[in-house]
Amino acid sequence: MFEEIFEEELARESVFRDVSKLLPDYVPKVLVHREEEFRWLTRIFKPVIENRTSQKVLITGSVGVGKTALAQKFGEKLVPAAKGRGMQLDYVHVNCRKQKTPYAVLVELVQHYNPRWPCRGLGPEKLLRMVTDWLNKHDGYLTLTLDEVDFFVQLNGPNLIYSLTRAVEEFGEPNRISIIAISRDPNFPRLLDTATQSTFMHNVLALDKYTAPQLVDILKYRIRESFKAGAVDEDTVRLIADIAARWGDARLALELLWRAGVLADEERVDVVLPEHARRAKAEAYPEVRREVLGELQLHEQLLLLALARKLKASKRAYALTGEVERTYRVVCEEYGEKPRGHTQLWEYIKRMEGLGIIDAQISRRIHRGRTQRISVPDVPVAMLEGELEKLLKARE
Ligand SMILES: Nc1ncnc2c1ncn2[C@@H]1O[C@H](COP(=O)(O)OP(=O)(O)OP(=O)(O)O)[C@@H](O)[C@H]1O
Ligand SMILES: [Mg+2]
Repeated sequence: MFEEIFEEELARESVFRDVSKLLPDYVPKVLVHREEEFRWLTRIFKPVIENRTSQKVLITGSVGVGKTALAQKFGEKLVPAAKGRGMQLDYVHVNCRKQKTPYAVLVELVQHYNPRWPCRGLGPEKLLRMVTDWLNKHDGYLTLTLDEVDFFVQLNGPNLIYSLTRAVEEFGEPNRISIIAISRDPNFPRLLDTATQSTFMHNVLALDKYTAPQLVDILKYRIRESFKAGAVDEDTVRLIADIAARWGDARLALELLWRAGVLADEERVDVVLPEHARRAKAEAYPEVRREVLGELQLHEQLLLLALARKLKASKRAYALTGEVERTYRVVCEEYGEKPRGHTQLWEYIKRMEGLGIIDAQISRRIHRGRTQRISVPDVPVAMLEGELEKLLKARE
């Protein structure tokens, strides 16, 4: 019996081509919309490669703006570039949130050079000494990324940073250790003494939040790597980008994309639709809006029900105001209510947008009059429809 299940599952079609390309640790081949930032890092590191000096940079930016991915991508290109110029340079990326103590960070660094080096019982200074000795002996260079360093310094104080900076100074020329610090908190350097502060403040790369169109491009690129051709609907991409753009967060966008794909597979359909994305959002970040829905006026509820039905039937991410108005009149008839006029409906839309229930945007297409595209980003429309029907029934 289990053999059958096994074979059946393996033979089953999937929307994914290579789901591993969506895993959090995977560094994509191209970081769309981060070319300028990559160029900036390259310029800053030019003297490292050409004059064998050291550099210190700080990369800041909020959740999911590509700080980690950018540093890793940079390391990936830096090492062979140095090698091509006869320089032995290693790139080591340490996540300081995972390696919670200076000891753990340095052990990871030491073990990059030799996994068999005994570290137990050695203090941080001694471990750092092992690394610097190795670099001196082998004429080696190191670019060390301290990722999520703000958490680390809050927890441990700035001593590790000082030791690393001092190790750099003790070498004199040439300096062998460069540091890329990554921090969500742009004010992180304030936790350091003024001297160290200023070394980092010289080279700060602040990554902006991604906009919705940028997220669309990022998603499209990642979809080509991970999904079968045509497996993700255009509207799904736009909807996911719009949701994630509220935080400018590419990680959220990719997570929703992945979850939506899994849901499509579970349903055994071959296209990922906007409803899958809404359900993915509700699953990952359930926001039950019953209280909010219950407080709406009768005709707001009717209008919202019309929107939910329209979106459900069309399988699209957005509906135009005219379409919703027509469905609204049908809904009013069903509930024996006299439909409200156009201007009044416009007010309802604005109010519900203010409450965060719907998302309304001026349509990109050209239409006469005030046409908007409306969407329900947060809840699956099937669920919304069910909730509203219950509420309306209770009213009767
Ligand atoms: N420009 C981009 N193109 C393609 N993928 C991207 C891009 N920017 C970020 N990503 C992807 O989005 C996810 C989040 O990026 P990353 O982990 O680098 O964010 P972060 O800024 O380090 O966030 P955090 O502060 O939470 O650590 C990763 O899977 C990364 O590969
Ligand atoms: Mg990160």
